Amino acid sequence: MQQAELRFIGIVHGDILRLEDAPPFYDESEHTGTLEIFPTYQDGLLGIAAGDTILVLFWLHLAERSILQVYPRGDKARGLHGVFATRSPMRPNPIAVSELKVLAVQGNRVEVAGLDILDGTPVLDIKRRSKR
Ligand SMILES: C[S@@+](CC[C@H](N)C(=O)[O-])C[C@H]1O[C@@H](n2cnc3c(N)ncnc32)[C@H](O)[C@@H]1O
Repeated sequence: MQQAELRFIGIVHGDILRLEDAPPFYDESEHTGTLEIFPTYQDGLLGIAAGDTILVLFWLHLAERSILQVYPRGDKARGLHGVFATRSPMRPNPIAVSELKVLAVQGNRVEVAGLDILDGTPVLDIKRRSKR
């Protein structure tokens, strides 16, 4: 099997409107926003509540997919790295993982803090961080 079909479960709304305005990583972000989960998938939010930490997978729809080596954070002093050795948005399957704090859940809308993702980016999946 060499391909898989993915379904977007929602879309992010936030105040990061240009790539150059996005923080490099979620733990350096003070941006809040909303995950709008499409009604078909809303039942899957049962059990997520304010105060939780969730791992959200995004499809970086504007990312370059043909590049396999990058300078991490554009810093040539760090040397060239394969994209799989980095968190670069550039990769064959431009899937991002951000650990976000849940501020509130109302119906199909999840308010979150810590966004490093552009407004309008599709959401692929949500997993709650385990509470071990
Ligand atoms: C370094 S990635 C990290 C994303 C995620 N936290 C991870 O580790 O997989 C974050 C960068 O992705 C870029 N980005 C955000 N949304 C994007 C989108 N929809 N398409 C392409 N690039 C995007 C921005 O430049 C942002 O600074």
